[in-house]
Amino acid sequence: MTSTTKTTEHGLSKFHRLLVDQVRHEFTASQQYIALAAWFDDRDLPQLARVFYRQSLEERDHAMMIVRFLLDSDVPATIPQTDEIQNDFEEPRDLVAFALRQEREVTSQFHLLARTAREEGDYTGEQFLQWFLKEQTEEEAKMSTLLAVVDRSNGNLFDVETFVAREMPDEPSDPTAPATAGPSVS
Ligand SMILES: [Fe+2]
Ligand SMILES: [Fe+2]
Repeated sequence: MTSTTKTTEHGLSKFHRLLVDQVRHEFTASQQYIALAAWFDDRDLPQLARVFYRQSLEERDHAMMIVRFLLDSDVPATIPQTDEIQNDFEEPRDLVAFALRQEREVTSQFHLLARTAREEGDYTGEQFLQWFLKEQTEEEAKMSTLLAVVDRSNGNLFDVETFVAREMPDEPSDPTAPATAGPSVS
């Protein structure tokens, strides 16, 4: 498939290099969410565990959407190791705050991607990013709400579990999402 990018036989465009890096960031986020989910699961907090296991699947799909795009753009889609995964936490608030920080970091990665696509005149790339930018707004909002709820609960995790069960159901898959390489899991 041809594209309007500036990747040539001389090397990848900066946008494509950043996109290859983003595959690693998304797989890292996916693996990190499993670590957070298992922590909650181990402490008999099944609703928090469910939300984080689920989030892990979504991050995995984000990675595979980018892999699909790279394949379609004739960019080698190298499958990376993840960055370091954090497993040691003291209390529930630390995990939610960690997840919110991770989402904010990913948002700034997408802002850099968007800026770079625009600078390089990569209109196809710019369009591909639109869904991810919207998704980041939702994921940041979700974690920031959860953090507020945890803070308001004053340590009553039963309240947090009740809130999560009531207000954070598993969402149906988004038909506007970019296609994944292979089947999607979320
Ligand atoms: Fe993601
Ligand atoms: Fe995310």
